[in-house]
Amino acid sequence: MVKQQLYKKYAKYYDKIHDKFDQKKESEFINWAVDKHKLSEGNYLLDVACGTGRHIEFLKDYYKILGVDINPEMLKIARLKIPEVKFMKGDMKKLNIEEKFDVVICMFSAVNYNTTFEELKTTFENFYNYLKNGGILIFDLGLNIENWIEGLISVDTVVDENLKIAIICQSHLDNGVFNADFVFLIKENGKLDFDIDQHELGVFGIENVIELMEDVGFKNFIYAEFTSETWDARSGDRPVFVGVK
Ligand SMILES: C[S@@+](CC[C@H](N)C(=O)[O-])C[C@H]1O[C@@H](n2cnc3c(N)ncnc32)[C@H](O)[C@@H]1O
Repeated sequence: MVKQQLYKKYAKYYDKIHDKFDQKKESEFINWAVDKHKLSEGNYLLDVACGTGRHIEFLKDYYKILGVDINPEMLKIARLKIPEVKFMKGDMKKLNIEEKFDVVICMFSAVNYNTTFEELKTTFENFYNYLKNGGILIFDLGLNIENWIEGLISVDTVVDENLKIAIICQSHLDNGVFNADFVFLIKENGKLDFDIDQHELGVFGIENVIELMEDVGFKNFIYAEFTSETWDARSGDRPVFVGVK
């Protein structure tokens, strides 16, 4: 199996590349879901697979926060950006934290880094065990069987005066796993560079994920695209799960 290469060389461009996603709106949704569904008393939030802390920047005034990610390069950037928040290296499949939380979030399809149903179950069980009674889990499932398009070529670009980036990828599913090779072309200050990031992503059916969440013990509420609208299976919208322990 190819070892994953996650945002190693290009962690420093991650925020630039994902500028167009609205993490402020997503963070407002998190606050809304916490107000609506959380029953525990406290405000301790665990951001699993926090990356560069894009959501933490908007949440840090409302919660005591711990950010966890598997990638030291991403954590380095998060620590520089938000020095007042505590971050630690950790794998969502085998978390080892001696605390319990009121809110666990795992944003921007990071649960898709579980490649098998067994792994996903272990991860959900971890999240469940790290929640206090009445605490909530929030995650989005951007990649799923229902919205999968085989062979789709995606091209993302960043065009600034001194920085131009193109990221190219083609979708291909192999036994439910997307072995994604993201080809990066970067021209910065006149110098051209090139590399490939390799990500292994599990692509699951939404109904199967709903059942798995219930098996683990969560009471599910599913919203569409980080809005207060209930998710509709026929809509093609990104489901955003709120699981209550
Ligand atoms: C798509 S990014 C999302 C980052 C952040 N949540 C955001 O919204 O920008 C996925 C993140 O998951 C992290 N990651 C991948 N596998 C992981 C694992 N097993 N445990 C913890 N973090 C993981 C990567 O290092 C990366 O930072």
